[in-house]
Amino acid sequence: MILRFDFGTPLHTGACVLSLPVQKDPVPFLTVSALAEGAVTLSLPLGQGDMLFGLGEQVGPVNRRGRRYVSWNSDEFNHTEDRQSLYGSHNFLLVWREKEPFALYLDDPGRVRWDLGWTRRDQMTVTSENGDFSLYLIVPEDGEKVCLDLCAQFRRLIGRSYIPPRWALGYIQSRWGYASAEDAREVAHAHRERGIPLDGICMDIDYMDGFRDFTWDHKAIPDLKGLCGDLKEQGIHLIPIIDAGVKKDPKYDFYREGHEKGYFCRKEDGEEFAAAVWPGLSAFPDFFRREARAWFGKGYEALLDEGLDGFWNDMNEPALFYSPEGLREAFGALEGRREALETGDYGAAFEMLGAVGGVKNAMADYRRFYHETDLGKTRHDRVHNLYGGLMTLSAAEAFERAAPEKRILLFSRSSFIGAHRWGGVWMGDNFSWWSHLKLHLRMLPSLNMAGFLYCGADVGGFGADTDEELLIRWLQLGVFTPLFRNHSALHTRLQEIYRFPAWETMRDIVSVRYALLPWLYSELMQAILWDRMLFRPLCFDYPRDETAREIEDQMMLGRDAMIAPVTEPHATGRNVYLPEDMLCVRFRTWEDRDLIRLPAGWHYVRAKEAEFLLFVRRGSFIPLCRPADRSDYVSTDSMYLVGWLGGEDAALPFYEDDGTVRDPEKEKGLSTLKAGKGWAWDPKGRKLDTAGLC
Ligand code: NOJ
Repeated sequence: MILRFDFGTPLHTGACVLSLPVQKDPVPFLTVSALAEGAVTLSLPLGQGDMLFGLGEQVGPVNRRGRRYVSWNSDEFNHTEDRQSLYGSHNFLLVWREKEPFALYLDDPGRVRWDLGWTRRDQMTVTSENGDFSLYLIVPEDGEKVCLDLCAQFRRLIGRSYIPPRWALGYIQSRWGYASAEDAREVAHAHRERGIPLDGICMDIDYMDGFRDFTWDHKAIPDLKGLCGDLKEQGIHLIPIIDAGVKKDPKYDFYREGHEKGYFCRKEDGEEFAAAVWPGLSAFPDFFRREARAWFGKGYEALLDEGLDGFWNDMNEPALFYSPEGLREAFGALEGRREALETGDYGAAFEMLGAVGGVKNAMADYRRFYHETDLGKTRHDRVHNLYGGLMTLSAAEAFERAAPEKRILLFSRSSFIGAHRWGGVWMGDNFSWWSHLKLHLRMLPSLNMAGFLYCGADVGGFGADTDEELLIRWLQLGVFTPLFRNHSALHTRLQEIYRFPAWETMRDIVSVRYALLPWLYSELMQAILWDRMLFRPLCFDYPRDETAREIEDQMMLGRDAMIAPVTEPHATGRNVYLPEDMLCVRFRTWEDRDLIRLPAGWHYVRAKEAEFLLFVRRGSFIPLCRPADRSDYVSTDSMYLVGWLGGEDAALPFYEDDGTVRDPEKEKGLSTLKAGKGWAWDPKGRKLDTAGLC
C-alpha cells in the first residue's frame, strides 16, 4: 500500500506514473517539523537492528545507516568515502526493521539532506530544503520478503524501467581521446583481429567540431554515415557523447536557433545564462520546456539519420566550470586580498585557493538562472536535480518521434527517478582503484531499487592508471552488469584489452559474458517487465538469515544466481557466504569451468587471477550458449545447462525477443525451460545439453 502526503507546493516532476490521492491524515511513522526558510524535516527513531537501504547512486555501504548524504546532482570526480552527493538524486529509502518496516520516497527536485544515524546513531532525519514535495510512504503487502515487496511496489509507482536494445548488453569500448574515424576503425579492428567480442565503441567529446553538440569534425570523420555503416556490418555500434552545454557561438547554427527561439535558460534580468564547459562559454537548454526539449531532440534525430543508434548524455547536472560572474567575484576577492597574498599570509593563501576552486559548480551559479516550470518562473536551484533527467527525456522524446518502433541505446550521467523510464546510467568518473571496483558492486542494488536497471561503472576505472590485474578483476565483475563498458580518461594509461600482455585472459572473460548473454538478457528483461531488481543484497532474498544481513560484497543476480567477485589485489580466492546450498561455477573460459557443489555456510573458494565465480541456487539451472564476437551472432539454438538439481526437476522462466522492438509483449517472450535427471525440455524444441547438470 502506498500513501501520499503533500508538503508546500510540490512541482509535478514526472517521477511517478500512478496518481494517488493526497492523504489528509497525519503522516505515520515519521515526525514532521517545519524549519526556518520553509525547510521541512522528517525524523524517525532508529532501533538497534534497523537497516536502511536505497538512495541509488551514492558511495558507501549497501546498508546506508550511520552516514549522511545530500541529494544534489553533482559533477564530482572524487568518489571518496566521505562524498555526500554524486551525479544522480534518488530519494528512495527503505527502512527495514522487525516492527513496521516501510519505505519512503521524497518526490522533491531540490536539495534534500539525509542524516541516517550520523549525528545521533539512534535517529534519522530527512530534510527537504525547499519544503515543497510529495512524500510517498510504502507499507509492505507481503510479510515474508518485505524488502522485495517494498521495492516492487515502489517500482510500480514510478513505472517501467528503460529497455535497452539487446546489443547494448554486449561489450563496449570507450576512451576519452578517440577523435577520428581512424581511431574507431582501429579499435574495431584490434578487437575483431584478436577475437575479443565487441558490440559498441563510444566516442567522447573529441569527435565533435570544437565540442559543439550534434556536430562532428569533418576532417577527422569525413563520412560519418559510411563509418557507422562499415562498423555496423561488423556488428559494432558507434555511440557518441552529447553534452548539456551548447557552445555560445553565433556562427554555430544549432546555438543560433536555440538562442533566437529563446530555448536557453535565462537569468533574472532575462539575459541568457552562460558558463564555461568543454566548448568554452556555453548556454544551457531549458529542458523543462517541451518546445526546448523538442528543439534539442532534433540534434539526436539528425544523428539517427547518419546511422547512429546509441548515445550517452554527459555533463548534465549541469556541470559548470565557472560563470563570468563567478569568475569576476573570485578575481574581486583575490584583488581585495592582494596585499596579504603578497606578504605570504597563509590565511589569504587558503582564501585564494577557496575562491579559485569555488567557481566550479558553484551554488551561486545555480541560483543565477531560471526555468519555466508548471509553477511558473522557477530558480534553478529549487529544481536542480531534475535537469539531467530532463535532458534524457529530450533524447527519449526524439527517439519516440524518429524511431517509434526501435530501441535506441541511451545512458546518462545525471539522473533523477523518472529518468529510469527513458534511459540507463553509468556511475560517472571513478578511478582505477580497488575500492572503486567494490563501489561498483555495492551501487548496483541501490540503483536497481531506484529503477535504473541498465547501469554499470567504467570498467577498469576512469581516472588514474589501471593495472593488468585490476582490469582483469574488474572485467570479471563487468561480465554481469547490463552496461559493460571499458572507459578511461584522457592522459591515463591506454586501457583497451588488447594493450595488455594478458589480453587472451581478458578476451576469455568477455567471451563468458557472451555465453551468458541470452540468460542475462532474459533476467534483465524479466526484472524490467515485472518490476523486479536484477541485483539484490542477500538479505532481501533471505530475510531471516542474520549472516546474510552483513554481506555487502556478494549480490544476488536474477532469479537464482549470486555473484561474489574478487575485489582484492593478489588474491587467489575469497570467502563466500552461501545462505543455502549452491552450485559454484568457476569460469576460466566459457567451456573450461569447474562445477562445485557447496553446502550452505562459509567457504573459502579459490579463484586465481584468470578465474571467476558464479553461484546458482540448488534446484535451479542457467543456460550457457556458444559465444561469438558480437551479440547478434550468439545463438540459442543449442544451450548448455549448468545446475545442481540433485535428482529433482527444475524450471527456468526464459525471456527472449528480437532485442530491438520498442514495446515487447511480455507474456509472448516468456517460455519455460525444464530439466531433470538426464533430460531437459525446451518448448521451442532447441537442443539442450544436460552434461553440466548434476
Ligand atoms: C565527464 C564524463 O564523466 C567522462 O566519462 C567523459 O570522458 C568526460 N566528461 C569527457 O567528455
